[in-house]
Amino acid sequence: GNHDVTCQVMVLGSGPGGYTAAFRAADLGLKVVLVERYPTLGGVCLNVGCIPSKALLHTAKVITEAQETEHHGLRFGKPDIDLDKLRNWKANDVVGKLTGGLGQMAKARGVTVVNGVGKFTSPHQIAVTGADGKVTLVGFENAIIAAGSQATKFPGAPEDERIMDSTGALALADIPGRMLVIGGGIIGLEMGTVYDALGSKVSVVEFMDGLITGCDRDLVRPLQKRMEKRFESIMLSTKVTKIEAKADGIYVDFEGANAPQETQKYDRVLVSIGRRPNGKNIGAENAGVAVDDRGFISVDKQMRTNVPHIFAIGDIVGQPMLAHKATHEAKVAAEVIAGHKVEFVASVIPSVAYTDPEVAWVGLTETEAKAKGIEIEKASFPWAASGRALSIARTEGATKLIFDKDTHRVIGAGIVGVNAGELLAEAVLAIEMGADAHDLGLTIHAHPTLSETVCFAAELKEGTITDML
Ligand code: FAD
Ligand code: NAI
Repeated sequence: GNHDVTCQVMVLGSGPGGYTAAFRAADLGLKVVLVERYPTLGGVCLNVGCIPSKALLHTAKVITEAQETEHHGLRFGKPDIDLDKLRNWKANDVVGKLTGGLGQMAKARGVTVVNGVGKFTSPHQIAVTGADGKVTLVGFENAIIAAGSQATKFPGAPEDERIMDSTGALALADIPGRMLVIGGGIIGLEMGTVYDALGSKVSVVEFMDGLITGCDRDLVRPLQKRMEKRFESIMLSTKVTKIEAKADGIYVDFEGANAPQETQKYDRVLVSIGRRPNGKNIGAENAGVAVDDRGFISVDKQMRTNVPHIFAIGDIVGQPMLAHKATHEAKVAAEVIAGHKVEFVASVIPSVAYTDPEVAWVGLTETEAKAKGIEIEKASFPWAASGRALSIARTEGATKLIFDKDTHRVIGAGIVGVNAGELLAEAVLAIEMGADAHDLGLTIHAHPTLSETVCFAAELKEGTITDML
């Protein structure tokens, strides 16, 4: 046909979903074209998401740890923050290394990268418009849509660079004196943690009656308690009714249970009220791919859309919008195209808020069990009884396991505390492998570690726990 380039697999979008799908397909011997509108590969996660946020959260942790050692005899001065250096480290040593690495990996595998905005023109062709206006027509036998998601805008908020989404907050233009975070979800609390440590007075406003609403309350409480101490305020069940940008600041009005009566002035505002999929901006209708009202594309267990040779993966196919979900779906899509008989059958997908302390959960939550009338058994081990937690002066944590009442198998887990995200992995494996309380309690964990708390929680359930410290 009249294509400029042809391939067996066209992947639209180079985030964790897209680059994984492209690389897997190439490794399986397929000719692959990867279409990306931005000059670097890696999508939201590597460029303006998971990775830069974790770099800044590391900086935040170093600062807050140094602030909190005073009562064990160590006093450090106020941190001297060189924002240029911090930004450079994040952009060049962290993000740049990873995205550059992806570029080299694409080359090594013979994946052709076509830069520009892609829009389907037919079920077998996409037009890619480069920054210079040049259009490249890519013909394909199969396609994988991995176009991701973008931040939801606050309705009615004025256009002003001080009213930011996560990308703006990660850019770290300055350290605002007073900052408002709208939305007490994962992005808001992670970025709030960063700016609080850097020295901003942070306030969070959330219209629901709790923070991180998908997670059990007992796991969120230690985080909330610590944030209430460090932040200027946490306003739950409260709405923002008006945002006005003036030369000297952003003026915000509130309404609700914990709302301040007077208009408040902030130096910057972070809007983190969720993300919406990019399904409406890719010309999907020209390929016959069904996109719902919100922009999501539905797929079957093989990641196939309603058009049999077109697949979709990652944020664009639905919740949870997480990088590790996208990469696993990506492999399935590439393998199905290569003729393998595989499906996406993960029993659980872990969630982690990399706040301080971290909150991590997987599988069935207590709240869900109650709502659905599922009978469970649970055991929660308080870190105040962990020697390791005491010796790092962070005893606010807890490790909770949720078991099936009949089989005693682990079906859910939640951890709050430093490194909870790393510690959760054992519980995820336990669920995938069908392990029960015995398996975890009889496995020898190194002492003294925080990972022991998983073993202790299982022993608590078994009634076999003796010397906890
Ligand atoms: P994306 O990463 O969104 O990639 C889509 C790509 O497609 C983009 O590069 C985009 O430019 C490109 N694209 C879209 N449309 C077109 C088009 N028409 N033409 C050409 N290119 C196009 N998840 C975690 O698991 N852990 C975390 O710690 C974490 N932290 C996060 C922190 C922040 C601040 C944010 C915003 C998100 C975070 N996430 C995290 C979520 C994670 O980034 C996403 O789940 C993940 O990036 C989704 O991958 P994806 O491949 O579906 O899409
Ligand atoms: P979110 O859905 O996690 O949280 C948004 C919060 O804003 C909710 O609590 C919601 O009730 C609240 N909200 C919505 N509208 C509001 C309003 N008008 N006023 C006040 N509060 C309002 O969304 P968030 O934090 O923007 O993150 C988007 C997604 O990005 C996450 O759901 C997750 O999939 C991904 N992500 C994952 C991370 C991780 O895995 N560590 C880190 C950051 C993002």
